[in-house]
Amino acid sequence: MSTEWLDTVVDDRRDATGRIVVLDLVSPGDAELPEFAAGAHVDVLVDGAAGLVRQYSLCGPPHDRSRYRLAVLAETASRGGSLAMHRLRKGDRLRISPPRNRFGVAAEARRHLLLAGGIGVTPLLAMAHALDAGSAEYEFHYCARSRAEAAFLDELEHHPRVRLHVDDGPAEQRFDPAAIGRPDPGTAIYVCGPAGFMDFVISSARTAGWPAEAIHKERFAPVDDVAAHTVGGAFTVRLASTGAEYEVAGGESVLDVLLAHDVDAPYSCQQGICGECVVRVLAGEPDHRDDVLTDRERADGLFTTCSSRALSPILELDL
Ligand code: FES
Repeated sequence: MSTEWLDTVVDDRRDATGRIVVLDLVSPGDAELPEFAAGAHVDVLVDGAAGLVRQYSLCGPPHDRSRYRLAVLAETASRGGSLAMHRLRKGDRLRISPPRNRFGVAAEARRHLLLAGGIGVTPLLAMAHALDAGSAEYEFHYCARSRAEAAFLDELEHHPRVRLHVDDGPAEQRFDPAAIGRPDPGTAIYVCGPAGFMDFVISSARTAGWPAEAIHKERFAPVDDVAAHTVGGAFTVRLASTGAEYEVAGGESVLDVLLAHDVDAPYSCQQGICGECVVRVLAGEPDHRDDVLTDRERADGLFTTCSSRALSPILELDL
């Protein structure tokens, strides 16, 4: 977990829909905030007393360092985070981490296909701002249940690159996976939204022949129950830097064990979706259970300590 928190103040708060609030955060002294690239998110210390931390994408223009814009959906099954965010008012203080990013715009692509479902519009809106400032070709499909539930219509509805699809609208405007098209080595696909939407888009793209590496995704929730991440037998983790060995029992994560032994290991979501806890495996066979690493990253030896386990008796980590 980041120990470097930034103090911010809510400078503006507006209801974008009945369930989505948009918050503009500024530095208390009006200093510039740290720069960020499109697709970045911040950890938010929602309730300092309770230590409740949630991740929210930055959806404002990346070139504007005077403010960070967040959009927060009031989750019906909220664990307290989104509802506390909705209670914020102008002038309230909020501590956040510096921006982190595992969902950036692929620099090598010459064309970008942005596919957002619901509140998944937030990181892709920042990407659209960034792409508008450049010359790359892009297309942005924004799917929502209804117009009433679609945020940022004022910015997006008449944008020439954006196609709005609402479930309760005429059939001809609904999202057609044919819009994903045939695989093109110069095109990058970005998808963000609820699990059902993401699974549909990703499986449509894969069925059409798109390679996994071309599909960039950011999930707001793990595919499986987080409890499933720690199911399994015991194994040992060894730290390459010190040679220290710790047993990871069934029901606990590698990260749990590292933190219990005061190892300074990075982490954030603890759900296998943010990538903040990624370390390299130097020896042993990992049992990957995260929803963030690509096949290539796994083949390169990357590993999430919060959600993955070992198939071998010992796993040596580059820590
Ligand atoms: S802490 Fe987010 S993936 Fe592990």
